[in-house]
Amino acid sequence: MIENTKFQLSINSQTSAFARVYLIFDRTVLAEIPFTENEATYALKQFEENELVIVNRYNELILVAFADPLKVKGVFLEQCRKRGNEIAGILRKEKITGIDIIVPAANPKAGLALAEGLLLGSYQFVKYQSAGNKKVWNLETVNFAGTEVSENDINLLTIQVEAVFIARDLVNEPASHLNAEKLAESFSDMGYEAGFSTAIFHKAQIEHLKMGGLLAVNLGSIDPPTFSVMEWKPADARNAKPIVLVGKGVVFDTGGLSLKPTKDSMDYMKCDMAGSAVVASVIYFAAKARLPLHLIALVPSTDNRPDGNAYAPGDVIYMHSGKTVEVLNTDAEGRLILADALSFAKDYHPELVIDVATLTGAAAMAIGQHGIVGMGNAGETTFSALKQSGENVYERVVEFPLWDEYGESIKSDIADIKNIGSREGGAISAGKFLEKFVDYPWIHLDIAGPAFINASDHYRTKGGTASGVRLLIDFLRGLA
Ligand code: BES
Ligand code: MN
Ligand code: ZN
Repeated sequence: MIENTKFQLSINSQTSAFARVYLIFDRTVLAEIPFTENEATYALKQFEENELVIVNRYNELILVAFADPLKVKGVFLEQCRKRGNEIAGILRKEKITGIDIIVPAANPKAGLALAEGLLLGSYQFVKYQSAGNKKVWNLETVNFAGTEVSENDINLLTIQVEAVFIARDLVNEPASHLNAEKLAESFSDMGYEAGFSTAIFHKAQIEHLKMGGLLAVNLGSIDPPTFSVMEWKPADARNAKPIVLVGKGVVFDTGGLSLKPTKDSMDYMKCDMAGSAVVASVIYFAAKARLPLHLIALVPSTDNRPDGNAYAPGDVIYMHSGKTVEVLNTDAEGRLILADALSFAKDYHPELVIDVATLTGAAAMAIGQHGIVGMGNAGETTFSALKQSGENVYERVVEFPLWDEYGESIKSDIADIKNIGSREGGAISAGKFLEKFVDYPWIHLDIAGPAFINASDHYRTKGGTASGVRLLIDFLRGLA
């Protein structure tokens, strides 16, 4: 499953690759780069309009990348990542598989960001292309020469990039090859590799737990649902009470009987398990990096389809929490399966619960692909830490309100609540629905906008982006 992780990061002051890049923060530093006079003149000229200069010698490729240190730190690091991605494009074109990174003015963070952009931008999902078709290029080695990065830095970056690649692979995997059971198996494989434990609940256990939301959504499926519980509990955990991550694992969302008006609204709905890929990849990172935090990840999973037995608008279902829900739209399935996971999470007496879900088109409509919609009751301090992480890694979070008034629209005439609210503010009424199932500090992240893109956005390669993975890794590292 993990096929994009063949790269190697190293630290060696001897440059040996065919290509090398100088990352500079001041254009006058150009003079210190060992160019011939002609090359230096050419580079200087190029730099008037470009932030990446290419000097292609017959036996080596020399690149000079510029990032502006006067920018806010997060923006500066993002510039470095973008330069890295541009370099990945050049290496791909030239079929060069290794590069040395040189940062004259020591700034390890910038060098690491450049490498991160290089690696993330080199991602490709070629599993289903037959040999003749396959894009053959792979970025194999990235060496830090003359930068003060540590072994620990490159180890963490390696694991982080792997975590992103795994999440992207899972999202890009079509539903024809990834049903709820296969998804759960993938989590077990990840746990086996990284050292976290995985328990998979199958249909009988889900019935026993009375997870009525997950079971209702699954009624139209010919494949059984799964509920995965992943746990990373190191002896040196800093938190007495666990942090619980919950991920939406809808492997394909047709809308069910409230069928999506087809054309593009259903085309990419294999991405509806992106939240689950995010939380599993984050716990994968935590275990591989041996983060001193007790973490649990929960994933309710099924596909959502119309069928003879499918749940129907008007149905009333008993949720895991005991609450009743009137289903008025079977396409609002995410909140039903998440609600069961959220009430299940109460048993852990968690310090904090963060759910991640491609939950509403409304979130995507509100802010598009460049941000994550967040809401919850976790309080100002936690939320600002999360927002800061968003700026650090450029997976930015915008907080939406959970004002009482938004709860009005999910009142039901015949059950405790209904599963749709007003169209306006649809991301928030979904959040209000979930809020009914929590009694602990909680943050809901709606990634419907950034989770899947149809054209690459710099190093966020097209298809699954894994948006949320780097955000939560940064946030958890801050707590650890
Ligand atoms: N999976 C969709 C949300 C979605 C939309 C994800 C676009 C990614 C891109 C979700 O299950 C859904 O269908 N939501 C409905 C809710 C509505 C029926 C209240 C929506 O947003 O239209
Ligand atoms: Mn839906
Ligand atoms: Zn959905």
